[in-house]
Amino acid sequence: MILDGKALAKEIHAEIAAELAPVPIEERPKLVAVLVGDDAASQIYVNSKMRACKKVGMPSEKLELPASLSQEALLEHIERLNADPSVYGILVQLPLPQHLNALVVAQAIAPDKDVDGVHPVNYGKLLMGEPSAFVPCTPLGIQVMLERNNVDIQGRHVVIAGRSNIVGKPLACLLVQKGKNANATVTVVHSRTKNLAAFSREADILVAAIGQPEFFTADMVGEGAVVIDVGQNRIDDPATPRGYRLVGDVAYDEVAEKASLITPVPGGVGPMTIAMLLSNTLTAFRRYA
Ligand SMILES: NC(=O)c1ccc[n+]([C@@H]2O[C@H](COP(=O)([O-])OP(=O)(O)OC[C@H]3O[C@@H](n4cnc5c(N)ncnc54)[C@H](OP(=O)(O)O)[C@@H]3O)[C@@H](O)[C@H]2O)c1
Repeated sequence: MILDGKALAKEIHAEIAAELAPVPIEERPKLVAVLVGDDAASQIYVNSKMRACKKVGMPSEKLELPASLSQEALLEHIERLNADPSVYGILVQLPLPQHLNALVVAQAIAPDKDVDGVHPVNYGKLLMGEPSAFVPCTPLGIQVMLERNNVDIQGRHVVIAGRSNIVGKPLACLLVQKGKNANATVTVVHSRTKNLAAFSREADILVAAIGQPEFFTADMVGEGAVVIDVGQNRIDDPATPRGYRLVGDVAYDEVAEKASLITPVPGGVGPMTIAMLLSNTLTAFRRYA
């Protein structure tokens, strides 16, 4: 069975739209996405986020800044957004150009507008299981997708492949917490893990977030596992209009035969990430109200 992130994201968008509908447009929470430079993939991601805002009736703005921007100038923009009462959510699209320090930038965002969950305060709260944390959108989207599809997480062995700051590590923190939709036994594997397949085969829930096209083959997955594919890898395909297609970190066709539930790429985790960005912005607004 397919875990349809696209359909679920649509449902969540409808819920957000319904909550925003009675709020006069000028009072609705605004999300600002800061895009530095002209990275093509980042443009695509930010545009999808802006389109989603439009669909739910959430004001949004794409702040496009040149790749040559200085760190000081970027911090000034963030300060201005922090001080703007119409802005409830600030997202700085990564990666940043090399001369900009992503940690310094994350620390400049007001924690109560940090809807992407990158500020160390939110990270610390997440680690401590403090419910007021803004949780990074991809891990949150995975947890919500499991919950809304009635996949029990409690007591189950979740193996997370990948230990990045935006996916693997925060997801491990989230699912290991004491509490609803968590209480998992979590194993994190990465590029230095010896015999990775021995771990992935043991997973009740396998989360693949390594950025390696179709890395997880059927022999690396246990019978009946729930498989969450976070990977978004472009591979050349001259037969498509764009010249490439998107594949996940999981060899979908063969793993789908073995898994009890699996997310497709595209249409799985990606749309949920965007839905959580809007949801976090609405949370920021509710807290203010
Ligand atoms: N769908 C979405 O919304 C969404 C959101 C974010 C990311 N993504 C996608 O998810 C993937 C991961 O993104 P990311 O930002 O987390 O990537 P990242 O920062 O590059 O981290 C990749 C992680 O995978 C590990 N890894 C790489 N190759 C490996 C291998 N052969 N075996 C075991 N571990 C390996 C790395 O290990 P080391 O730490 O040892 O180097 C690292 O921990 C990418 O395809 C990205 O496009 C999707």
